[in-house]
Amino acid sequence: MTRVDYDERLHRAYRAGRALSADTGRLWTAAIARHLGGARGDLTILDLGAGIGRFSILLADGFDARVVAVEPSAKMRAEAERGSAHPRVVYQEGSAASVPAAAGAFDFAFLSMVVHHVPDLAACARELSRVVKPGGLVFIRNTFGGRLDGVPLYRFFPSARAIDEARLPRAEQVHETFRANGFGFVTLEAVEQQIDPSLHAHYERIGHRALSTFELMTDAEFQEGLERMRQAVELETTPAPVLERVDLLVLRRQAT
Ligand SMILES: C[S@@+](CC[C@H](N)C(=O)[O-])C[C@H]1O[C@@H](n2cnc3c(N)ncnc32)[C@H](O)[C@@H]1O
Repeated sequence: MTRVDYDERLHRAYRAGRALSADTGRLWTAAIARHLGGARGDLTILDLGAGIGRFSILLADGFDARVVAVEPSAKMRAEAERGSAHPRVVYQEGSAASVPAAAGAFDFAFLSMVVHHVPDLAACARELSRVVKPGGLVFIRNTFGGRLDGVPLYRFFPSARAIDEARLPRAEQVHETFRANGFGFVTLEAVEQQIDPSLHAHYERIGHRALSTFELMTDAEFQEGLERMRQAVELETTPAPVLERVDLLVLRRQAT
């Protein structure tokens, strides 16, 4: 696995380059809520690999919950504390293999775009089986190998697709690793989100270079892709929303 260090550059680009609209935030809260049978209020949620807290505050507000947001990068955590402060969210140092919490501390865990950064997924599954309550859910929001047709930026950055196919795990691999560590399969859903209201807005977002995929290509490749996008933007007469498919894999910790 090629490691991407969020302390180097991405922590500065992330907020502008990875912002979600309020509607897209609601879409994800609703996708999770469908599996919780209306539970909210007295919930404690783990946001693992929380980054700058983009989803931590959504989870706290959407479920009126307490959120422990665990993140290994000191600079991502500092950015979270600065820009995503929330009275029911605590940002803590930790990692997928080492979550600073007692056994059974969480009603559910959420991991957004994290599993491909985790060097030992089995250790992550074991740690989640320790900290998630029996019967509790794990939500894995990710793009997975073999299911990348719904990512619009690959049209302009063909090498990005090859990079992602090589590094993103397949959903079946993730499921199998979790199954071996006490989790059952609930569902794998493709969720279509509006990433930007127009190609022009998407071009401006991509220009922040806030995706880890872009850390794995040369500056020249990135600039060439951006130029292809700029030319396409010039041809956009009527702004059309840019849609993107991201998967939600849901697993349940078996009762022991
Ligand atoms: C693409 S960002 C996603 C951040 C956040 N979940 C979101 O969707 O906005 C990936 C995050 O995973 C973190 N990460 C990297 N290795 C990790 C590990 N072993 N355990 C937990 N998080 C890790 C990175 O520091 C980074 O903040």
